[in-house]
Amino acid sequence: MLDKQLDERLAGRVALVTGGARSIGAAISQRLAAAGAVVVVGDLVESPAHPGLRLDVADEASVEAAVAQVVTDHGRLDIVVNNAGIMFENPIAEQDLASWNRMMAINLTGPMLMIKHAAPHLAANGVGSVVNIGSIEGDRCNPAHAAYAATKSGVHGLTRAAAVDLGPVGIRCNAIAPGWIDTPLNAGYVDTHPDREAVLDALAKLHPIGRVGATSDVGDVAVWLASDESRFVTGQVITVDGGRTARPSLPDILA
Ligand SMILES: NC(=O)c1ccc[n+]([C@@H]2O[C@H](COP(=O)([O-])OP(=O)(O)OC[C@H]3O[C@@H](n4cnc5c(N)ncnc54)[C@H](O)[C@@H]3O)[C@@H](O)[C@H]2O)c1
Repeated sequence: MLDKQLDERLAGRVALVTGGARSIGAAISQRLAAAGAVVVVGDLVESPAHPGLRLDVADEASVEAAVAQVVTDHGRLDIVVNNAGIMFENPIAEQDLASWNRMMAINLTGPMLMIKHAAPHLAANGVGSVVNIGSIEGDRCNPAHAAYAATKSGVHGLTRAAAVDLGPVGIRCNAIAPGWIDTPLNAGYVDTHPDREAVLDALAKLHPIGRVGATSDVGDVAVWLASDESRFVTGQVITVDGGRTARPSLPDILA
């Protein structure tokens, strides 16, 4: 366990976490703060736990203003966590352009805009780190997830691109690809089934580790990627999925 009192890995650093008001973003914010960082949450809604500012990652003016506000208030910006994201289901043959574009704008264009506007500040102190939240669906795809999987593949590509372009100015960029993390984003799957316990049990069995993910499982990896402990790691996508994607599926009759 981390000793929150003694963990000073991010002391003096300032972090902006998009979509940090709840779920994975809230856990990342909590873990960054526990490691000593000053954390600002940028979200459409207010954060109950951390100082926040209103941010719509799909709106370039909003992104630019949020970055400027953090630097005005705290004098620097060292860590950006691009976590804000949405998910909906739509078979590709029925995909309408408006919701496709909305998913792209939030999940993929948003991280690009954040990196673009934060880069001059991230470069200023030589410790800049961007952590993008991708997904195991960046490399795989559930049925009816064309838009979501496309955005997350894009996030993984953007991660490598930012690492290549910004490495020379001292900014690292990595992604976390979470598997099934228990949050409202995927609760819809569980709630559509009449036997919630049976679904949770079946989900747990998909994972060699024997459980679905907790938001703190992602938060702890984000701290490592934000900190100097990962100083020679950039352009990488770190899968955090309890081993689920390491095991190819078998037919039920053999599994
Ligand atoms: N939950 C999972 O199993 C899982 C798995 C893989 C990846 N992810 C990714 O993790 C990230 C967080 O997912 P979650 O499960 O915590 O989702 P969530 O829906 O519980 O929380 C998302 C947060 O983002 C904010 N947000 C949405 N649109 C925004 C915008 N335009 N600007 C600013 N903030 C906005 C919301 O207000 C909310 O606070 C997403 O990028 C998601 O794709 C989640």
